[in-house]
Amino acid sequence: MISDADFVIAWKDVLEQCRLQPGEQVAILTSDDSNMQIVNCARIAIGLLGGVLTMINLPPINGEKALSRDKSGYVGKTPLAFNTAALAALKAADLVIDTMQMLFSPEQEQILKTGTRMLLAVEPPETMLRMIPTPEAKAKVKRASVFMGQAREMTVTSTAGTDFRCRLGQYPVLEQFGLADAPGRWDHWPSCMIARWPDEGSAEGQIVIDAGDILLPFKRYATDRTVFTVENGIVTRIEGGVTAEYIRCFMETFRDPDAYYMAHVGWGLEHRASWTTLGLYDREAALSMDSRCYEGNFLFSTGPNTEAGGHRDTPCHLDIPLRGCSVSLDGVAMTVDGRVVHG
Ligand SMILES: [Fe+2]
Repeated sequence: MISDADFVIAWKDVLEQCRLQPGEQVAILTSDDSNMQIVNCARIAIGLLGGVLTMINLPPINGEKALSRDKSGYVGKTPLAFNTAALAALKAADLVIDTMQMLFSPEQEQILKTGTRMLLAVEPPETMLRMIPTPEAKAKVKRASVFMGQAREMTVTSTAGTDFRCRLGQYPVLEQFGLADAPGRWDHWPSCMIARWPDEGSAEGQIVIDAGDILLPFKRYATDRTVFTVENGIVTRIEGGVTAEYIRCFMETFRDPDAYYMAHVGWGLEHRASWTTLGLYDREAALSMDSRCYEGNFLFSTGPNTEAGGHRDTPCHLDIPLRGCSVSLDGVAMTVDGRVVHG
């Protein structure tokens, strides 16, 4: 646990970095499983900074459809789809603190288009405190973003056998540094990573998950080697042993061809995040942003692209961070064997 006092100080710091001004409209979005220490400490910090607070609580939905309690296990469908009053209130806010998780929903994109800033806050408070967003972390992501923004091709290799390439340019760069500090900007505290969706139909090759690599949303370390074959932007084969069989069976339960499209690809930049943390937490306690952000990972994903402005809103989303990969943009190394060399 962490103290409320420490967490209020952290919230005040983060909200100041999110450029919260006195008199701005701030909405905290909650659901029945929101972490109340996050909610209560954010409320106090908003008050200390002179924000005008509105609390919006929505009932949970789709619990019976999701295969786990993990907020990333069934994405994109939220109670906002039916709640025009709450949607209007969130659009009218200057800043939304999201403790419900509406990532990948079409409503999130609608809210952001009005200029509202949105900060997702759903990780355990102690993880948030360990990885408070900083100007230095933001600068690191911005440096990587320059490379990602100019690049036309990403290639990824590893000694485990990954040999993957895709073109870039069709979709915007996804910068995550934990601060919603500009109009229409979404971010997630904690995070520190850079990513982009491949151009449609351009992702090709094979991605090899080795024993010890992390599988999300399952929040397990892979026990054996799995090979994803990617053709024309779509995962066409998942082969190996029990890990491959498990992933295939999970994806099949959604009965959704969109689940097999490649989604964001990028790398982690957070030195305070760790590959090891997943083994120390109850699996239902966290999304494991440690896994997504630890410095030097290659994070690939499958499924939705609504966050990038596309129309695939499948609820099936895998995030798989790999160790020991070398990521290059237009032939320039960004990571080498899992070490960041740029950014
Ligand atoms: Fe993801």
